[in-house]
Amino acid sequence: MPVNQMLRPPLLLENFENAHTDGRGSGKHWGWKGEKAYASVEVISKQEHPQFVRKGNHALQFNYDFRFETTEGGSRRAYFVTYAGENAHPTPDLSIKDDPNVLIIPEGEYPSHLAMWVYGDGNNAWFNGMIVDSEGTTAELPYGSAYWTGWKFIKMKIPAGMKLPFYVVYPARLLTGDKTLHGSLYIDEIMAVYGGIDFDALPPTISQMECREVDGRPGLPELCALIVDEDDEENGGVTSGVDCARTEVRIDGQLHTKNIEQKQTDKGVALCVTPDFPLCGGEHKLEIIAYDKEGNQTYASTFFQVTSRTPAVGWTVAKEAEMGGTLSCRLYAEGAKPNTKVALSLGYDSGNLTPAEPFFDLAPAVTGSVTDHGGLVEIQLTTENDGNVPLLSLDFTVGSSYVAPENTVITCEKAHMEYDGASEAFCLADAEVAILPGLSLLVEKLCQGFDTVFTVTDAAGKPVSGAEVYQAGRPAYPGQTDENGKLVVSGVTDAEIDSKVDLYARKNCQYSLTTRYSISRDMGSKEPVNVHISCGADSTEMAVTWQTGVGITEGYVRYALKEEGKTALTADDLTVKAERKNNFCTYQKQSCELNGYSACLTGLQPGAEYLYQVGTEGAWSKVHTFTAFSQTGEFAFGVLADTHNRCGAAMNAALHFAPDLSFFAHAGDFVGSGIVYDDWKAYIEDAGYLHAKYPTVPVAGNHDVSDGTGINYCMIHNNPANGTKNALKGINFYTELNNTLFISIGGGDDNEKNVMDWAREVVQNSKMKWKIVLIHKGPYTCNLSSESDELRWGEFMDGLGIDLLICGHDHNFQRATIRNHKTLDVDKWISSSDGVTYLQCATSSGPSRHNWTRHRPIWNAVYESPAPSASVIRVSDEKMQITSLHTEDNADGYKIFDAFTIVK
Ligand SMILES: [Fe+2]
Ligand SMILES: [Fe+2]
Repeated sequence: MPVNQMLRPPLLLENFENAHTDGRGSGKHWGWKGEKAYASVEVISKQEHPQFVRKGNHALQFNYDFRFETTEGGSRRAYFVTYAGENAHPTPDLSIKDDPNVLIIPEGEYPSHLAMWVYGDGNNAWFNGMIVDSEGTTAELPYGSAYWTGWKFIKMKIPAGMKLPFYVVYPARLLTGDKTLHGSLYIDEIMAVYGGIDFDALPPTISQMECREVDGRPGLPELCALIVDEDDEENGGVTSGVDCARTEVRIDGQLHTKNIEQKQTDKGVALCVTPDFPLCGGEHKLEIIAYDKEGNQTYASTFFQVTSRTPAVGWTVAKEAEMGGTLSCRLYAEGAKPNTKVALSLGYDSGNLTPAEPFFDLAPAVTGSVTDHGGLVEIQLTTENDGNVPLLSLDFTVGSSYVAPENTVITCEKAHMEYDGASEAFCLADAEVAILPGLSLLVEKLCQGFDTVFTVTDAAGKPVSGAEVYQAGRPAYPGQTDENGKLVVSGVTDAEIDSKVDLYARKNCQYSLTTRYSISRDMGSKEPVNVHISCGADSTEMAVTWQTGVGITEGYVRYALKEEGKTALTADDLTVKAERKNNFCTYQKQSCELNGYSACLTGLQPGAEYLYQVGTEGAWSKVHTFTAFSQTGEFAFGVLADTHNRCGAAMNAALHFAPDLSFFAHAGDFVGSGIVYDDWKAYIEDAGYLHAKYPTVPVAGNHDVSDGTGINYCMIHNNPANGTKNALKGINFYTELNNTLFISIGGGDDNEKNVMDWAREVVQNSKMKWKIVLIHKGPYTCNLSSESDELRWGEFMDGLGIDLLICGHDHNFQRATIRNHKTLDVDKWISSSDGVTYLQCATSSGPSRHNWTRHRPIWNAVYESPAPSASVIRVSDEKMQITSLHTEDNADGYKIFDAFTIVK
């Protein structure tokens, strides 16, 4: 039985039964608000839209469209709200008390959540609400992404410590940077929840869908699935049980009702269906809708194959297609009999595919017709052949204008075959196709004073000659690429700085992605700037980065062991050529282009001191030193977080306390805005040359990747390429230094399961004594992203097998040792076998300025630091001693405010 923490049953705030949107009617008046987006609301009835009303006879339809606003930058927001004027939500201050429409959570028990039923459209926009309390304090109520389709009961956590009654400023708004999203959500039963609920909000699950063919019963397989209605652990709700009487089974779109068996087993309800009539050979679609007794519904579908009968019709469709290329679909029959007739409707996305010229080709001895209706193809065929024979090939032309790779799917909407006087239905399995660019375009020197260099390569990275650079359907510049794939054009950059061009490469039917570039200024410097070192994959590596203006196109690292009397480097010393990548960012409020260099020094002697300098002939940096990571013995490292462009004071305080520090771990939010190069320059310059001397073990924070790409973060930190496959290189990585594994989880992958699987594998395979995760937003941060994030990530970290998690984001110092979402009662000595210790660092750039209204009472120690703060972690095989301090105007230059020790 789930533990129900319900203080009192949920309080219904609105069920839309008497609601209206036009000032007429007895209930509440509802409205909308759109920022850089279009929004509207409508009260709908069950009569017209039965599936979109969850309870009673009415619900609210909320339409949003983020497509038509052309202003750049900033988020698009759409709200559904109690009416407070045209395009407005109630004012989030005390005047809200006089609003006749506002939803009120009254005095009495303290509510844990604002909750509602939402019919989602799977569009993944960010979803959150807002309340104001009786003293005028506001709180955002985060939920997370509206990723689901169909009805879902969603809860938004209300922070502790506010003063009842609460007024709802808006129950929810959608927030996105995605300019293509549009859709509708349906809202029903908005309520206040007090710790738990007294109804079943969790739909059943359908799993283990399979087809078992039965000997001697051709075309009549057993179709089985398991339907389970679980207790709702999260909300304390008890299962209402599977409502077997409402289970629906469709095969190829047709309801089958005669032979449905549902048996209660200890695992759930075992569903077994034999079709009402024999199915023909080939593929079929099975769809199941299951309900629980509370009315929660689940849909699941799969395709299965009947091999016990012929004829059977099948198709082959390539899994990948090139932009601008051709996608071929080939239909065939197995075991055909003469005069077999096949009728098919295929649905396709006409935004991605158009019928090629010619569109189709009938196989020998096949007659019939193929008619395109734009998005739907109707096919009628008769084959005179028997046996295994081709029927038809269809060719689509793939779209050519894409800003990112895309997927498309061709679906079988309806399919029949006729032979021996009988007509039988089937359904070909969906054909999913990845649309990929055949060319790639690199643009360099798109800045004033330079001839622009375009480089075109193919999918394998080989240079492509004879390609042109296009904009909006026609060649943008004269000329074609040479045998090195290069085209140099002068005058491109005569346009004003910051003017935009949308460019792609084309050669015949091959296209690259279309990318928006800005005419830029050159960063200018010939000398290397921002010399910075960070960790490689282990103690024997060191990653070096720096930048120059675009006039310099080569870079090297010279290095040597620091020996008695050696202070300079020459061409005779070890030299490594750096990889150069040109980079567009903003600098001094304008679009700027610069060259970023990175090199990884390998095979270093652990613990040895090196001299190094970076640059090229005539433009070398000064000589810096670093000490390679040690491989054995005790060591100490500093921890920084949320430096937001300023780190020098905190680094120096840590170095005063522990002059033997070997590196700094950084929990993210290095800068104010990731795309702004000035911010990175300020961050590095604020430390003097400490970033050239002390390597960083970094993790990206939300501010560092606020442009969506983390391009500057990746330019400064040349992290090892041992992270997840789908994320940008270096956003996730791990390194093994001395006796400690560091796993840096920067995210960057839409599928967080990939990140979790990767991290789990890394921990399992590491033989390091200590295991530390760096993640900017820890699962228990006070600035909670969403409660479901906390549950998932908290549980994940619990089971990961790590000793310490270092995070930032809150800007306040907090630490706790947690197991199963519960804070353990720990003192200054903590055994890592008891639970994971979370070190939530304070800000390293200034005072904490903690938001106490959002503070969560889960921490063992809390400190609001008045000054820039850092921690120092001293590691041996036996223990990790963690000391936290802030800068102080005293003889030491620091003041310690927390210290504890983790032992195995
Ligand atoms: Fe921050
Ligand atoms: Fe942050």
